Amino acid sequence: MGDHTNTDSAAAHRVKELRSELRRHEHFYYVLDAPQISDAQYDALMNELKRIETAHPELLTPDSPTQRVGGKPAEGFKKVSHSRPMLSLDNAYSAEELADWDRRVRELAGGLPVEYTAELKLDGLSIALHYEATESGGARLVRGITRGDGQIGEDVTSNVRTIRSVPLSTSADRLNAAGLPPTFEVRGEVVMPEAAFQRMNEEREQQGLAAAVNPRNAAAGTLRTLEPSIVANRRLVFFAYFLLVDGEYWPHGQRATLDVLTTLGLRVNPHSKLVASVEEMTSFIDQAELDRATLGYEIDGVVLKVDSHATQQRLGYTGRAPRWAIAYKFTAKSGVTQVREITVQVGRTGKLTPVAELTPVFIGGTTVSRATLHNADFIERLGLLVGDWVKVERGGDVIPKVVEVFEDADHPRGSVPFAFPMRCPECQSDVVRVEGEVDYRCVNANCPAKLRESLLHFGRRSVMNIEGLGDAVVQQLLDRGLVHSVADLYALKKDELIALDRFAEKSAIALLDEIERSKKAGLARVLMGLGIRFVGERTAELLALEFGSIEALESATAEELERVEEVGPRISQAILEFFAQPANLALIQKLKDAGVGMTAERKQRSTQLAGLTFVLSGTLPTLSREEAKRKIEDAGGKTAGSVSKKTNYVVAGEEAGSKLEKALELKIPVLDEAGLLALLGENSQTE
Ligand code: IVH
Repeated sequence: MGDHTNTDSAAAHRVKELRSELRRHEHFYYVLDAPQISDAQYDALMNELKRIETAHPELLTPDSPTQRVGGKPAEGFKKVSHSRPMLSLDNAYSAEELADWDRRVRELAGGLPVEYTAELKLDGLSIALHYEATESGGARLVRGITRGDGQIGEDVTSNVRTIRSVPLSTSADRLNAAGLPPTFEVRGEVVMPEAAFQRMNEEREQQGLAAAVNPRNAAAGTLRTLEPSIVANRRLVFFAYFLLVDGEYWPHGQRATLDVLTTLGLRVNPHSKLVASVEEMTSFIDQAELDRATLGYEIDGVVLKVDSHATQQRLGYTGRAPRWAIAYKFTAKSGVTQVREITVQVGRTGKLTPVAELTPVFIGGTTVSRATLHNADFIERLGLLVGDWVKVERGGDVIPKVVEVFEDADHPRGSVPFAFPMRCPECQSDVVRVEGEVDYRCVNANCPAKLRESLLHFGRRSVMNIEGLGDAVVQQLLDRGLVHSVADLYALKKDELIALDRFAEKSAIALLDEIERSKKAGLARVLMGLGIRFVGERTAELLALEFGSIEALESATAEELERVEEVGPRISQAILEFFAQPANLALIQKLKDAGVGMTAERKQRSTQLAGLTFVLSGTLPTLSREEAKRKIEDAGGKTAGSVSKKTNYVVAGEEAGSKLEKALELKIPVLDEAGLLALLGENSQTE
């Protein structure tokens, strides 16, 4: 007892136990969808593991359940080749086309067995997961790659690791049970569940960002986010459907592949079936159309795959797709209903969005009673009148769209044209439409709707993540005059909160704790919280990475801002305008005074050329002037417009002219493009 080695081996033992328990419960929860313990019990196990790992860092391994969200955001994604191309599928849109395909398959199979595995066509994006052997005989996730162009994808490992249905490792026992070597590749689909999609879009709307059009795009965008903790929050799900060893499909057929993937601990979609005829295919499709409404994620059809591996090989591939598989695509679902009223919502930025209030109609499994009308132009283009009968579509998109206005005997036209309000529906102030923009905005900087939406936005999970700062609380804080800006949240007192409806000591303390915790959210989240136009999640991350502090960002010029990936003149202008407003600077000061942190870890900048000044002259053979300038500055060097004694190098191309003469005169070293690249440690492209 008390002996160091004993304690350590006890810790090692407990760590092993906890990890195995946590993995077992993650599997129950995320893969089998059948939790065995409460979230609180799970959290308790996780916290115990975190505590031990903190005390014994030597016990930490990358596949520990505590390590899903790696600390550091990625700086970009490396391109990597696929072990074998990730192909696409040919499509069929009718039973006839399926019958044609079935006939061709049977002809080409030349007597080999023809049965099909029918699966759902998940509306997400395909990725490849690479697992490699560990010392203990198990396998560990080493890489996750997007499909990309099918040949080369992007390495999104740090993001894929946050997807809970992706096992970070698999045990020797599971590998044995599956009869698999410890190095293999799994392919499948990443989807964003509808609930997660809706939540994300609500957040984006409040941020004044364009809503993602469908869960597929949202999932794709999320996988390319630079901050793994944001990806973790989006609750993506991975469904596995292919298994490869040494770049070859596992040879026991598709049905057996799905089973073995299940054995490995991966999530396999439960809706699949072996079918032998076109009739069986169509009844699987009919069932899928019925299930579609209640799955909780989007599907856009059914995939049929020849089951036998031998037959697959016999059939082979066309240029872009296997002959042994086909996608049956559903047609878009629509319904007809009446527009009862058009209401207008005011967003955080004061933007007015018209919404069609519909007579509820059942489309593709859900009741639709509202559809966004985007803006006044959209209503005009549709020629929509209040009372009109309209066709509403729910395609791959979750957000219903009004696509057509009817005018026939059965659907008499409405008669009330919609007049866009000239006053804000919330504060009755004037609304304006900026020249060249489609949206109307409320002009009142103090519009209560703006403040309300700003507070809600500030508290959102993807922003400052203040749990408990919902509609009801915000409304009461406003009604009682307790907050006039987001900074006032940090001055709230326990007694003030206890006085709110449905608040007690405990909930008041919990909310204050959340507010306190948000002070450490970091620069990127604060930037989003401030609600600078066009600065969404990704831009905020990139800005934080580049500038590292609010002060650095505040004093940045348009040119410096535009050096950040994805920041063009439109965004840089919005940022400059934001920091030019005294009210915004006052708000930032108030937040700082309250203790809100506004720094971030900066991107490691090279200092190779630090302290050196370059002058560019003439035309370089491959680099544009901008590219050369960027390269020098990225390496820590400066560029100047004219040659002086302070110039360290002149980079001269063709027709360099007077600057070159001046350099020779002042005996300043002259480089050509290859010389510059050599100085940067890069190979010249002409070599
Ligand atoms: S098999 C070479 N199975 O559909 C085989 N794909 O239209 C291609 N998809 O790129 C993949 N669910 O992103 C397969 N059960 C499923 C699928 C599925 C969705 C996607 C996948 C693929 C696209 C082709």
